[in-house]
Amino acid sequence: MSIDQTSQPIKPLRIAVLVSGSGSNLQVLIDAMQAGALPIEIVGVISNRDDAYALTRATDAAIPVAVLSHVASGKRMGIKTFEAHANEQLIAWQPDLIVLAGFMRVLSGSFIDNAPAPMINLHPSLLPVYKGLDTHQRVLQAGDRYHGCSIHKVTAELDAGQVLTQAVLSVDINDTAESLQSRVQKLEHKLLPWTILLLAKNVLSLEAESTSQANQYLPTLPLQLFITS
Ligand code: GRF
Repeated sequence: MSIDQTSQPIKPLRIAVLVSGSGSNLQVLIDAMQAGALPIEIVGVISNRDDAYALTRATDAAIPVAVLSHVASGKRMGIKTFEAHANEQLIAWQPDLIVLAGFMRVLSGSFIDNAPAPMINLHPSLLPVYKGLDTHQRVLQAGDRYHGCSIHKVTAELDAGQVLTQAVLSVDINDTAESLQSRVQKLEHKLLPWTILLLAKNVLSLEAESTSQANQYLPTLPLQLFITS
């Protein structure tokens, strides 16, 4: 249990994280949790790849992991099988929030709707522009001046749920897809813990009628952060 700034004990938000790769965003959450900087408990990590480095990060932090990559015969797991196992595992962990952090499979509407907790996703573009893959390359090709990342509610339509927060950077004349990827990832590492803090403290809501929509005195979402570093 952690203590917020008004000394009210607040119950940690139980978070399950879905990953496919390196897990640098997962690491940021682990570090913040261990430092007592975020009122969260990471109750488990699910990976659809058995070679994801995120699994090492979770195991090193004594967080339970579930690897749902292949079936017993050695064949790669189809999405329906993945979803059935993932749903069962999530129900067992009882998360308050499911975080897709670099999770690279497209989930079905029925999995999302029947999940035991709301789901958020971290996406490397300023949604609604550049849904899907290769966002950095597409930003450069379009000659955009601004780029960044978004955290949005997950719904059946890919990368189309309510955007909660965004972090923005100016595209530099010398930027390449690789440099943008690295710069955007640095923003992600700040945006994700900030967003989870706002959710944990009920400043942001994942209810159908979001807090800001219900309150005419607050700005409409997404909350945009210009993060300097
Ligand atoms: C992030 O850059 C995210 O935008 C993209 O996948 C990457 C995951 O990075 N969807 P990591 O696994 O958290 O290091």
